[in-house]
Amino acid sequence: MSSDMSLNKLTVRQPDDWHVHLRDHHVLHGVVGFTAKVFRRAIVMPNLDPPITSLQAAIDYRERILSSLPDGVRFTPLMTAYLTDDLATNVLEEGYKKGIFTAAKLYPANSTTNSSEGVSDLKAIDTLLETMELLDMPLLVHGEVTEPQVDIFDREEIFIDNHLYPMLLRHPGLRVVLEHITTEQSVQFVESSPFKLAATITPHHLHINRNSMFNGGIRSDFYCLPVAKRERHRLALRKAATSGKDCFFIGTDSAPHLRRDKESSCGCAGIFNAPYALESYAEVFDQEGSLEHFEAFVSKNGPSFYKMPLNESSISLVRRSHVVPSTIDLSNASGALQQLVPFHAGEKLSWQVEHSS
Ligand code: DOR
Ligand code: ZN
Repeated sequence: MSSDMSLNKLTVRQPDDWHVHLRDHHVLHGVVGFTAKVFRRAIVMPNLDPPITSLQAAIDYRERILSSLPDGVRFTPLMTAYLTDDLATNVLEEGYKKGIFTAAKLYPANSTTNSSEGVSDLKAIDTLLETMELLDMPLLVHGEVTEPQVDIFDREEIFIDNHLYPMLLRHPGLRVVLEHITTEQSVQFVESSPFKLAATITPHHLHINRNSMFNGGIRSDFYCLPVAKRERHRLALRKAATSGKDCFFIGTDSAPHLRRDKESSCGCAGIFNAPYALESYAEVFDQEGSLEHFEAFVSKNGPSFYKMPLNESSISLVRRSHVVPSTIDLSNASGALQQLVPFHAGEKLSWQVEHSS
């Protein structure tokens, strides 16, 4: 990493996004450029409708992503398999060996968007997990229990105690990413783990606490899953992300939903942060006085965990104040305009990615 004397410019190896939702069709077309212009690679979530549960579905989706890229952009989508109760072992085996799947994603059934076909009982997929352990194929975990009697703010912590820890004991060789962690307990669990365990941290969980969802009214723009928690958890996440520890790395969880779908009586979970994700993280590292650990978090710890080479290309951010637009327009198949609300809409950010064109 290089930075000029007054820290007005930061140049880092090009980062990757280790957790993103690119969606499909016209939304894919409208959003993929935001990710691909900044990140060299991205782990693409498989929770489409229907989900990505076969090699052919992953190959086809990858093709749709590549054909939606803006001209001249070098971007590698890394595909993931969606685990179900009855996914065949050989799908994972063949997919991983052929390089079609980089990892497999565990959604506890009904935990979040398009997860109804997810896993209903972790023990029931032990054979799949054994295979992944043997292959050294990473398992990406949405870590929340779904029992309605469990308070939504406790779901991550209880998942760790009741499901993740026992699973790691049964599969001590499995490489696991606990995705989008939101609590102090998760930070402690990951950093003190004897297992091959890492965690991604989103920009939004570093900026907002649970009050943001109820600030003067219901603020659906800040509703995501796992939901943001108390302030002390946000502070613990900021400390973890900026610590330089290699078990924590970037994963934006950018999850676009049309504005009308967020602002309905049953608004969708997800925050669309792709347009200013890197700037959003830079803001946090700057505020925490930890810009020297920025590159490890955004460009190094992820590839090391995934056993992939570091990117050779680089990207710069300059200290320049700018206001994030309040909406981003998409046009659907029939040309009608639709809106997405980006994270930080209407706010001032103090770092800006320097794009070459
Ligand atoms: O907020 C979220 N949105 N969390 C998830 O786990 C899924 C994502 C989505 O796909 O919308
Ligand atoms: Zn996600």
